Amino acid sequence: MRIYLDNAATTPLREEVIEVMYQCLKEKFGNPSSIHAEGRKARAAIEEARKTVAHLLGASTGEIFFTSGGTESSNMAIKGAVRDLGVRRIISSPTEHHCVLHPLEVVRKQGVQIEQVHLDRRGRINYDHLEQLLQQSNGAKTMVSLMHANNEIGTVHDMERISALCQTYGAIYHSDTVQTIGHRTINVSKTKIHFLSGGAHKFHGPKGCGFIYINNEVQLKPFMDGGGQERNMRGGTENVYGIVGMAKALELACENMDSYRSYIEDLRSYFMHQLQERFEDIQFNGDYDGDYLHTILSVSFPPSPRSELLLLQLDIAGISASGGSACSSGAETGSHVLNAIQAGPERKTIRFSFSHFNTKAEVDYALEKLAGLVQAKKEPANV
Ligand SMILES: Cc1ncc(COP(=O)(O)O)c(C=O)c1O
Repeated sequence: MRIYLDNAATTPLREEVIEVMYQCLKEKFGNPSSIHAEGRKARAAIEEARKTVAHLLGASTGEIFFTSGGTESSNMAIKGAVRDLGVRRIISSPTEHHCVLHPLEVVRKQGVQIEQVHLDRRGRINYDHLEQLLQQSNGAKTMVSLMHANNEIGTVHDMERISALCQTYGAIYHSDTVQTIGHRTINVSKTKIHFLSGGAHKFHGPKGCGFIYINNEVQLKPFMDGGGQERNMRGGTENVYGIVGMAKALELACENMDSYRSYIEDLRSYFMHQLQERFEDIQFNGDYDGDYLHTILSVSFPPSPRSELLLLQLDIAGISASGGSACSSGAETGSHVLNAIQAGPERKTIRFSFSHFNTKAEVDYALEKLAGLVQAKKEPANV
């Protein structure tokens, strides 16, 4: 028996998605740039998918560009904004995904000033500090790049509040929404944003396929030079079946968003309470009972020789989750997210992440296995 509790890393493909991708592989093999019937069929499938993705985000079709995933989209937004929009200063945070942090390092070397907004111990933004940083731009064109939900601890940043601040101070706003697309409502016609990054494999779509939303008000030059695909933004023959699969996956995720959310919410909350009830000294990372992403629960176990190999032992017991720890010695770097929120370096952190495919029986099984691996709560002494 295998229990998959690592849905923030990637999600299994849905049957309906496999079916449309299979049909597409078989029937829409033409090159979308060819003018004959096969080519036109493939082109039509891409444009239909674009319409679907745009509609579900409140965007216009001209604002959606297909990419290879969240990493490419965030690279495009950050490097493109510096190259083409005159951005000279970027406000971000130390808990961003590496697909943002590493491009920031690249543009820093090109002379762009990088500022880090203060976070608290739950990974929440200090919005007053964000405003101060925006006020201090001294005329330098500024971009804010702040993720919607953190992939390790699930803390959600308030997009509307960030958007309002960016509008007040005339800043460009990019958000890495890879963990929230398809799980939380995002409507760019209501919340003003310039760039959004999305990746299909976090909402039961295929890997190697994603998109970037680029607000019509901003224009980037080509990111990949070549055949002029994606309206000249990204040369190269399109990943037709990936794009079709992604659109189907997003459609299903959005259609069922509320019911999946409440179902997953219940599972997560059950797991959380059972952990607290059964085991000694359990802590949770992030804004776990505030504004959190319902798919993620970051659990911190007390230090013990038994918890050292917890992730491996869980895997042997049939449970897939993710590890991560704060830096506990000068030699290892640990998780940059847990380090940034100063999570206890001596504790063992496991990220459990859920999807609507998980069941209560699976959660019970995981709890049962954990009982053999971590310290149970001591029974109160009989009096
Ligand atoms: C928050 C976040 N951003 C970006 C990515 C990278 O996305 P992709 O795998 O589609 O490149 C991930 C995936 O782990 C993520 O969790």
